Amino acid sequence: MLVEDFVVTPWEVKGDVDYNKLIKQFGTQPLTDELLARVKKHTGELHPYLKRKIFFSHRDLDWILNEYEKGNKFYLYTGRGPSEKVHLGHLTVWMFTKWLQEKFDVELWFQMTDDEKFLFKPDLNVEDTNSMAYENALDIIALGFNPKKTFIFSDIDYAKTMYKEALKVAKKLTFSTVKATFGFKEETNVGQIFFTSMQSVPCFLPSVLKKKNIPCLIPLAIDQDAHFRISRDIMPKLGYYKPAILHQRFLPALTGSGKMSASEGITIYTTDTPEEVKKKINKYAFSGGRDTIEEHRKAGGNPDIDVSYQWLTFFEEDDSRLKRIYEDYKSGKLLTGELKQMLIEKVNAFLKEHQAKREQARKQLDKFILKD
Ligand code: TRP
Repeated sequence: MLVEDFVVTPWEVKGDVDYNKLIKQFGTQPLTDELLARVKKHTGELHPYLKRKIFFSHRDLDWILNEYEKGNKFYLYTGRGPSEKVHLGHLTVWMFTKWLQEKFDVELWFQMTDDEKFLFKPDLNVEDTNSMAYENALDIIALGFNPKKTFIFSDIDYAKTMYKEALKVAKKLTFSTVKATFGFKEETNVGQIFFTSMQSVPCFLPSVLKKKNIPCLIPLAIDQDAHFRISRDIMPKLGYYKPAILHQRFLPALTGSGKMSASEGITIYTTDTPEEVKKKINKYAFSGGRDTIEEHRKAGGNPDIDVSYQWLTFFEEDDSRLKRIYEDYKSGKLLTGELKQMLIEKVNAFLKEHQAKREQARKQLDKFILKD
C-alpha cells in the first residue's frame, strides 16, 4: 500500500492534501476546460469556483449534461452533519450549490445527518445533534435558496420516509464493503456500519417520490466521496441512476493544510463577530511572507502557501483584483499584514450580510423543512 503524507476520509482530513493524487486514489475525473465550456453553454458564465478549479474533479458530469441537454433535468443533493455551528468551509460548498440551483433552475435536496453525528461523535447526545440541524439550517436558508425548490430534512425527523429506503440500500451493502471503505473494526458500533445506507437515500428518494428516474448531482467537499462510491455501486442494483458528483477542494485551515475543522484548530464560524474574525486571522492565518519587511520587499512572499491568499480565492470574486493581489504579494509590494487586512475586510463584509439573513431565516424555516 502507498503511504501518503495526507489522509482524506469522511471522518478525518490530515496533512497537505495533494489533489491530483486524490483524483488517482479515488478514481475520479479531473474537471477539464472542455467540460467547463459545456457547463458555460447553459449557465452563461462560470462561477469563480469553476474558473479557479476550486471544484476540480467529478464523476459523470458529462452524463448529467447529456441528460440535461435531452431535457432530462437533474436535481441537486448535498448535506450537512450538524455536530456544531457552521463554519466558512461548509458554507463555500453551499454557495456554489446555490449558484447551480439558480443557473439550472433545479431542486435541491439537503440532508441533515443528525443521526450520523450522534453515532460518530462520542460526546454528543441525540437531542443536541437534532436541534443543531435546525440551527445549521438557518445558514443554508440564509444563502438564498429557492424555497419552492429546496427541501431540507433531518434524518431523525424524516425517518419514516428515509428508513424504508435506507433498508433497500442496507440489504445490498455488506460489512466487508464498509470495512474496506472506512476501516471499521470489530468494535465499531453497528449504527456507523449502517450509516452509509442513510446517506445514500437522497441519491434516489426524489425518484421514488415522483415515481420516475431523475438524475442526481451532488456537489461536495471531496472527503465525502467514499460514501458515494458505495452508493454508485448500489443504485443500479435498485434500478436507479448512479449519482454524479462534483468535488471541491477544502477551504484550508487558518493554520495551514488539511481542512478547516473545529476539532483540529482554528475556524471561523458564521456567527463570529468582526472582532473575533480579525483576531483569528491576524493571529493564526499561516503566512507565506518573509521574516522581515526588508526581506519581504526584496524577495517577495509566496501566495501559493499563504492561507490569507488561499482564502481570498474563495471569497474575492473579482478575478483581476485577485490576480493583482497575487502578483503584488509575490513581488513584495504587498505585505502580510496588508494581505490579512484585505481578507479581514472581505470576510467581515460577507458575514455582516450573512448574519442578517441568517436571523431572517428563522421565520422561513417552515418553508424549507420536510418532516414526515
Ligand atoms: N456526512 C456529511 C457530513 O458529515 C453530511 C452529508 C450528508 C453530505 N449527505 C451529504 C455532504 C451529501 C455532502 C453531500 O458533513
